[in-house]
Amino acid sequence: VADNGEHRIPVASDADVITARQRARALAAGMGFPVTDRTLIATAVSELARNIVAYAGSGVIAIRIVEERGKRGLIVVAEDQGPGIANVPRALERGFSTSGGLGLGLPGVRQLGDEFEIESRPGQGTRITVRKWMHV
Ligand SMILES: Nc1ncnc2c1ncn2[C@@H]1O[C@H](COP(=O)(O)OP(=O)(O)O)[C@@H](O)[C@H]1O
Ligand SMILES: [Mg+2]
Repeated sequence: VADNGEHRIPVASDADVITARQRARALAAGMGFPVTDRTLIATAVSELARNIVAYAGSGVIAIRIVEERGKRGLIVVAEDQGPGIANVPRALERGFSTSGGLGLGLPGVRQLGDEFEIESRPGQGTRITVRKWMHV
């Protein structure tokens, strides 16, 4: 699949969360990711989008297809200009939630990606990057 474009999905509502999930799944399918990985990728995007709506109100999910030294994969960047995360290590603990949620979103996303990065400062928003490589 030759696609070096970036797919930007604005996220500000529950409907957008569903759209982001579906587009992530379709992109992963088009690249040839196995069905199980498509589900993991769609779930990660869904959790990141859900967090944007819940905690920041609005933001963007950007998905890019990448090729690096013969490897192909997806990079998902979830970005918002919301309140940020005061304590990132804490937010990554299973069961930690400031909203009475299950607190499994971020730890789950971290676990299912091959690479995972959070940049967040209180008052300056949050950017979360996840990479998933296609294993041949
Ligand atoms: N985009 C975000 N902006 C601000 N805070 C966030 C964001 N995403 C996650 N958080 C914080 O990290 C915590 C853990 O997130 P998560 O693991 O998805 O669990 P849950 O959403 O169930 O609370 C949230 O409760 C919230 O405090
Ligand atoms: Mg969550």
